[in-house]
Amino acid sequence: MRNRRGKNSREGGLSGTKILLVVTGGIAAYKSALLVRLLKCGGSEVRVVMSAAATEFVTPLTFEILSENPVSISMFARRERPVVEHVELSKWADRVVVAPATADIIAKAALGVADEIASTVLLSARAPVMFAPAMNEAMWANPAVRRNIETLVSDGKIILDPGSGALACGDVGPGRMAEPEDIVRALEASFAPGDLAGIRVLVTAGRTEEEIDPVRYITNRSSGRMGFAIAREARARGAHVTLVHGPVDVPAPRVDAIERVATAAEMKAAVTKAFARCDVCVMAAAVSDFTPVRRRAGKIKRAGKSFELELRSTEDILSSLGKRKEGRIVVGFALETENGEANATRKAREKGCDYMVLNAPGKKTGFSAPTNQITLFKERKKLFATPLISKDEAAVLILDAVAADGRLKRFRR
Ligand code: CTP
Repeated sequence: MRNRRGKNSREGGLSGTKILLVVTGGIAAYKSALLVRLLKCGGSEVRVVMSAAATEFVTPLTFEILSENPVSISMFARRERPVVEHVELSKWADRVVVAPATADIIAKAALGVADEIASTVLLSARAPVMFAPAMNEAMWANPAVRRNIETLVSDGKIILDPGSGALACGDVGPGRMAEPEDIVRALEASFAPGDLAGIRVLVTAGRTEEEIDPVRYITNRSSGRMGFAIAREARARGAHVTLVHGPVDVPAPRVDAIERVATAAEMKAAVTKAFARCDVCVMAAAVSDFTPVRRRAGKIKRAGKSFELELRSTEDILSSLGKRKEGRIVVGFALETENGEANATRKAREKGCDYMVLNAPGKKTGFSAPTNQITLFKERKKLFATPLISKDEAAVLILDAVAADGRLKRFRR
């Protein structure tokens, strides 16, 4: 479950909260009736919107009786007083929960389609929106659904991943809607203050590109996934997040301030400026270590059998930050192919990092993979080493360690 609160956050109740439940057309709609019961017992006021397909599985009357409120099933229903219903509902809600969320509503929400009541409510929603997907496991694995989920996550939506098991269609695999109790817990957590509330976090991500001539450049395989996962997680835990990133392969998450750069020198300038206003800096960018001594104005021609390119080292941004951190917490990354632990702790010391994340390049780890295997050091002390996990999970673990750092107290506003 990606609920992004951090283990130190305080779980809150639901008393007095206003929950708008959007039910779309899947067999798991029957579980949403139980969800309404649990929410009502927890003290929430609940209003329900149903897509036309949802009404084929459960009747609106069921939700009307359980929620003790009228259920909206059409954009054009006549009410006692004239209201623009989808706008009124969106203004009313503290949280919107889509359960079950079909592949269809996920696609519409990712694209911003508004062609019936459920999708229109989502497009006009002002409150945080949570999706509890439920579908056949082949649909859940389909690249189109994966793309749409990634878009929703980068738009700041919360996805409650489906569980694995026997599905209504007879297949077995991931696709079962999160249990109503888990949805309630995620909602409770979303109302609790995050453990990075009031903290300003600067995150760098992606790669840099050093120009050789107008058509060629030196770069590396960094995709931006690890830095983006940290930025997204920090924001979900209440931090004010500034993101400085170079070229990447995935969409950037929604943060408070964002600056896009291309070269190591541009990254240095942007990071140095933002560092003055941060409490925690996570340097996940793969900054190029070398840049051409001079950039040719014209395209280099293929003359002769060989060609020499003179490179010089770029400035080490992390080292320069480490030297003037004045109590800020600095997290560095080390990508090592050999002597990982020794190199990571040496780099932490030399660069003035409080935390160092060690990862190794591989098919499933390091730069471009969605997964990683990390070892986290606090100064010289090894805190933990993980098995292969998703970069989202790695981000949670790294920020758990930072959030538990006693020095953070002095920054809280
Ligand atoms: N880093 C930086 N500025 C650079 C190069 C790297 O700030 N010009 C930062 C990276 O963002 C990362 C850390 O330094 O957090 C370690 O990067 P890495 O490439 O592993 O280390 P290097 O110091 O470049 O050492 P080497 O390449 O020799 O292993």
